[in-house]
Amino acid sequence: MLKVSDLVVNYGVINAVKKVNFEINQGEIVTLIGANGAGKTTILKSISGLLKAKSGQIEYEGKSINRQKAPKIVAAGISQVPEGRHIFPGLSVKENLQMGAFLVKDSSKIRQGFQEVYDRFPVLKERENQDAATLSGGEQQMLAMGRALMARPKLILLDEPSMGLAPIFINEIFDIIKEINSNGTTVLLIEQNAKKALSIADRGYVVASGEIKMTGTGGELLQNEDVQKAYLGG
Ligand SMILES: Nc1ncnc2c1ncn2[C@@H]1O[C@H](COP(=O)(O)OP(=O)(O)OP(=O)(O)O)[C@@H](O)[C@H]1O
Ligand SMILES: [Mg+2]
Repeated sequence: MLKVSDLVVNYGVINAVKKVNFEINQGEIVTLIGANGAGKTTILKSISGLLKAKSGQIEYEGKSINRQKAPKIVAAGISQVPEGRHIFPGLSVKENLQMGAFLVKDSSKIRQGFQEVYDRFPVLKERENQDAATLSGGEQQMLAMGRALMARPKLILLDEPSMGLAPIFINEIFDIIKEINSNGTTVLLIEQNAKKALSIADRGYVVASGEIKMTGTGGELLQNEDVQKAYLGG
């Protein structure tokens, strides 16, 4: 579904991503794990069109999306849930969700989107008229995910969805990610919480200093001694 080949991304003179290769098959949950500053967010933003690659290829459903602008990439079926959520303050929960559907022209599809998001996140329905800025951190994460789902993506990119959440909320967010996936959406998950991410992922890649250092199934990486030492606190 997605194939990233020899991706290089720079910020000025800083080489943040160095010839990265990985792929995602339709229906999978794939995770990128790695320490702070490894280049995970940079990779994600290159896929969603927010950053331009210096070189390399990003192919989605067989077509190059390197030079496409972010809205086109959303329209093609890739939605991003950014690190830090970035919900729109001053807008209600409902208005934030509406923003996620800005490219969906068919009003019955928008209604269906609301229905599905509210079924999955009942708390958002309860709070639909509340200013999104006043939601708790966990609720804001749900809103950010709901907003991305309003675009009805085939591939969802999640950047650190568990960041800053209490353990009980973290479990809930991971359960929701599994549900979203079993309903047919392919998932690219970036996480600091490597243990949780690997435990729900079909496959994972370890990113360090802008490079892919290791890959395997979620189970293989969980068992790997180097991964345990570096990322699983073992
Ligand atoms: N706008 C920017 N300008 C310059 N350097 C940047 C910029 N954004 C990121 N970087 C650098 O690029 C490298 C990769 O950053 P990135 O945000 O992709 O890491 P990350 O793996 O997502 O880290 P974290 O887990 O902390 O979110 C870091 O060294 C960072 O300082
Ligand atoms: Mg990041």
